[in-house]
Amino acid sequence: MEKQFHTTLQSNYTLFTGEVSAHSPSNIALIKYWGKKENQIPTNSSISYTLTNSYTDTILKFTPKTEKGYDVKVYLEGEYKESFAPKIITFFERITAYIPFLEQFSFEVFTSNSFPHSSGIASSASGMSAMAICLVQIEQQLGAILSEEEALKKASFLARLGSGSACRSVYKGLVEWGENDFIEGSSDLYGTKYPDHEIHDVFKTFHDTILLIHEGQKTVSSTVGHNLMNGHPYAERRFIEANENLQKLLPILKQGDVKAFGELVEHEALTLHAMMMMSNPAFILMKPNTVAALDKLWEFRRETGNQLYFTLDAGANVHLLYPAQDAEAIEIFIENELKQFCQNGNYIQDKVSF
Ligand code: DP6
Repeated sequence: MEKQFHTTLQSNYTLFTGEVSAHSPSNIALIKYWGKKENQIPTNSSISYTLTNSYTDTILKFTPKTEKGYDVKVYLEGEYKESFAPKIITFFERITAYIPFLEQFSFEVFTSNSFPHSSGIASSASGMSAMAICLVQIEQQLGAILSEEEALKKASFLARLGSGSACRSVYKGLVEWGENDFIEGSSDLYGTKYPDHEIHDVFKTFHDTILLIHEGQKTVSSTVGHNLMNGHPYAERRFIEANENLQKLLPILKQGDVKAFGELVEHEALTLHAMMMMSNPAFILMKPNTVAALDKLWEFRRETGNQLYFTLDAGANVHLLYPAQDAEAIEIFIENELKQFCQNGNYIQDKVSF
């Protein structure tokens, strides 16, 4: 299967100096990827919304060189970041079988995020997706013939090797990743856009307001968290349930059942965090204000009937999910009642991209 991603470049391609660029949004999973095997193969299927206002822009400059080895310099918001190069080099090592020219150029990566670096929003999904899209563009400039569809699929395949969830950031809308027998074309190797015509319009208007509960680095990285699913007493059950939940979600998406959607998505988020708490060693990424915000949200939903739901990523922040039709009342509630739980009162207004 991986064979289809080997380069079609002939060995006599000509090197030149140039630059490419990519814009890639972050994504928020509804059914969570948590657990992986060798080579970034997920232990269950996942699906996410690609966002709009939370994104990475990357310019990748390349200059031919003759010495062996990788040469990468990374600049974040214009500032040279020596500490970022090892992550890109690890990525290069993983993808070198599919991108033959990585040792033949000196690379300069100029990257910037729309969200503050300290916000606790993971930049790995949007960042790795943008890098992968840039590399496929260089491959095409050197002469590889790829249709638009093949180029995106290859970018998603490469992005996965950088960071699993990054493979879902290559497409807009709802993107699925992980092989199963109920989504046609699903694969462990790359993300697949879930067809827009299978999604009720109400889910195409969803807002995602991200409460920045705790800014700064999280205490346990996703990679460590995934590894703690190895030998986890509930792992096997969790992997089965995630796939069942994805299968349950599909008719809900089609019918436009916002209540069933919200309940399933909240269950997924809490399961993710429950898995963390039951790991050995255990860890908790929620903060007191995360729980306080969820409590307030539930109270608001009970009292007003507004369709406000949440999900959580692997951190303390809360993603508030709601349809555009309820946005007015909900956004007043966020400003008046939830903002107090955000560190420095900061939250990000985002929405899904269709
Ligand atoms: C909780 O994709 O960041 O956000 O593959 O190790 O880079 P690596 O992990 P990463 O994990 C994301 C986990 C999650 C759930 C999800 O996005 O599906």
